[in-house]
Amino acid sequence: MKKILIVGATSGIGESLARMYAESRDVRIGVTGRRRERLENLCASSPERFEMEACDMTDTVAMEAALDRLAGRMEGVDLLILSAGTGNLNPELDYGVEWPALATNIIGWTAVVDWAVKHFERQGHGHLSAITSAGGLRGSGAAPAYNASKAFQMNYLEGIRQRLAGKRLPVCVTDIRPGFVDTAMAKGEGLFWVSPVEKACRQIVRAIERRKRVAYITRRWRVAAWIYRHLPDCLFLKMGA
Ligand SMILES: NC(=O)c1ccc[n+]([C@@H]2O[C@H](COP(=O)([O-])OP(=O)(O)OC[C@H]3O[C@@H](n4cnc5c(N)ncnc54)[C@H](OP(=O)(O)O)[C@@H]3O)[C@@H](O)[C@H]2O)c1
Repeated sequence: MKKILIVGATSGIGESLARMYAESRDVRIGVTGRRRERLENLCASSPERFEMEACDMTDTVAMEAALDRLAGRMEGVDLLILSAGTGNLNPELDYGVEWPALATNIIGWTAVVDWAVKHFERQGHGHLSAITSAGGLRGSGAAPAYNASKAFQMNYLEGIRQRLAGKRLPVCVTDIRPGFVDTAMAKGEGLFWVSPVEKACRQIVRAIERRKRVAYITRRWRVAAWIYRHLPDCLFLKMGA
């Protein structure tokens, strides 16, 4: 029986992954998010497969306790998918708009990653997969905190990979970097190559199965991400004008 924990399963990518994994019989899935009613609806779709804990991950003490309870009820976790995240366009550079991205994508996110890594190290095996973003490869004038928080996540995962390599444990880290996926999170003008959620999630599941280190979603975003990363400043800065 595979035991999967999905953080941020109340909507979008996390919810779609939860429903996709629940199609398999031999699986137990723990789900979290703040919106309790949405978790209850998800669990009601396959009560024999799901366990839930409603929690705000910016309350790191409560979040760690919720993860402990879920892992206890599931008798271990083989795969933790960290999908939770937030971010808003911030043309006024209002700190109040930036704060939720910092609190969720950096403070809460780090607490969940550290919990997962220590859990897998104690257990002797495991797989951590976090949904970061191709946006984290460069800064963003439209949503500075969001892109910067995603850069933090990508860098942090690399650090965790280095830590694990030193321990020679079968614990794997997969950094999933979507371009645009058709969820509430995809905001702003001029979005392109927006993937349907199901297509993105099928590719995410495949990348996790293949234990990839980094995966761009959808796959063609690998090329776009490379161009974006290497775009000279004279062109990159004009994109924000
Ligand atoms: N959609 C895109 O185009 C795109 C592109 C690149 C990367 N991503 C990344 O993909 C991930 C999933 O986003 P999505 O597109 O599926 O958007 P979404 O539908 O808005 O999902 C975000 C999830 O994060 C959870 N969440 C947010 N703040 C939280 C908090 N403080 N505590 C606990 N849970 C919290 C939400 O649950 P509650 O609101 O119930 O708490 C929800 O389940 C995010 O990390 C996002 O940055 C998305």
